[in-house]
Amino acid sequence: MKQSPSVRVGVVGAGIMGVDHARTIGRFVAHADLTMVADIDFSRARDAGEEFPRKKITTDPMELIGSPDVDAIIIASPDDTHAGLVLGALELRKPVLCEKPLATTVDDCLRILRVESGIICKDNSNRLVSVGFMRRFDPGLSEVRDRVEANDIGRPLVVHCVSRGVSPPPGATSQLSITGSAVHEFDIVPWLVGSPICEVAWFAPANHMADDVLQDPQVMILRTDSGTLATVEVFVGATYGYDIRCEVVGERGALELSPLARASASRYGQRCTGYASDWRGRFAEAYRLELQAWVDSVYHEWPSPLASARDGLVASAVADATIMSMKEGGSSRRVTVPN
Ligand SMILES: NC(=O)c1ccc[n+]([C@@H]2O[C@H](COP(=O)([O-])OP(=O)(O)OC[C@H]3O[C@@H](n4cnc5c(N)ncnc54)[C@H](O)[C@@H]3O)[C@@H](O)[C@H]2O)c1
Repeated sequence: MKQSPSVRVGVVGAGIMGVDHARTIGRFVAHADLTMVADIDFSRARDAGEEFPRKKITTDPMELIGSPDVDAIIIASPDDTHAGLVLGALELRKPVLCEKPLATTVDDCLRILRVESGIICKDNSNRLVSVGFMRRFDPGLSEVRDRVEANDIGRPLVVHCVSRGVSPPPGATSQLSITGSAVHEFDIVPWLVGSPICEVAWFAPANHMADDVLQDPQVMILRTDSGTLATVEVFVGATYGYDIRCEVVGERGALELSPLARASASRYGQRCTGYASDWRGRFAEAYRLELQAWVDSVYHEWPSPLASARDGLVASAVADATIMSMKEGGSSRRVTVPN
């Protein structure tokens, strides 16, 4: 890649995330060109990143993956399409950034990991699969992690994570809140404290607004190998705004994510700041930094600094254990990650 002027990126799936990634790649990422978009819905592919008229469009994601105009692929189609598309990219040895989750089953994550490991061994190459756990690039969370690592607060004892949204997405279920939302925390907690999650338990409060399909909010307790406890609240229908909180409590102090506010308004005897309406606003900088880091790794042939296929597998294994705990009414479950 070093000799070409830019990495030619193709985006599969032109929905909420795909359009956001296409625009970020096209406008804000150096050494990258958006060259192709695929969506089974032709009009979505056409409209995605419409300010980039040179891009090609297709309704066939495999055509994009195989296209000579595409060096690297972003997968932002629905979760159940990820495994097949990642394997398609691996077959052609193309770097792929797959939105979370890597796959909908632990078995499929493992399959991807094994295929990728085979290629790395055979070709003596860098890893090809990156997973879109973009919170690792959030400047606030990165600072918390750096200060934990620098031993600013001593050994981390407890982590409190809160993830609230305005309203449940269409088709929301308790299980999807775990695999779609809590999975970010399953990735970020071990990344923050430097130790994998070994045990989980799931709970839900009595809530007359909730039903059997969607328990909301849900509260999970995680334990890491090093003995840190984490509480995770996921509340997809919290109504008031998109609100992400994180605090790490250590032996000698605590580190807390500051609320992101560009401006505050003072009136009627109150000082107010607003919330983002969804993750795109709250994590815009994290997505941009993640995409830049990924493109840089492809361009310079550096190892990808993003979450790996193994990180995707581990997060899915934690989600599986959490779903088991939910089905058993909150019993504690050990996390097993297959090799
Ligand atoms: N990292 C994050 O913060 C984050 C946030 C939201 C969503 N996501 C993930 O991003 C992915 C996309 O989510 P979304 O909210 O944009 O969904 P969406 O429903 O808005 O968009 C999905 C798009 O994919 C298209 N599509 C469906 N099957 C396809 C296929 N086989 N090939 C190509 N296109 C296909 C659909 O027509 C649609 O346009 C999901 O995996 C989701 O879990 C990640």
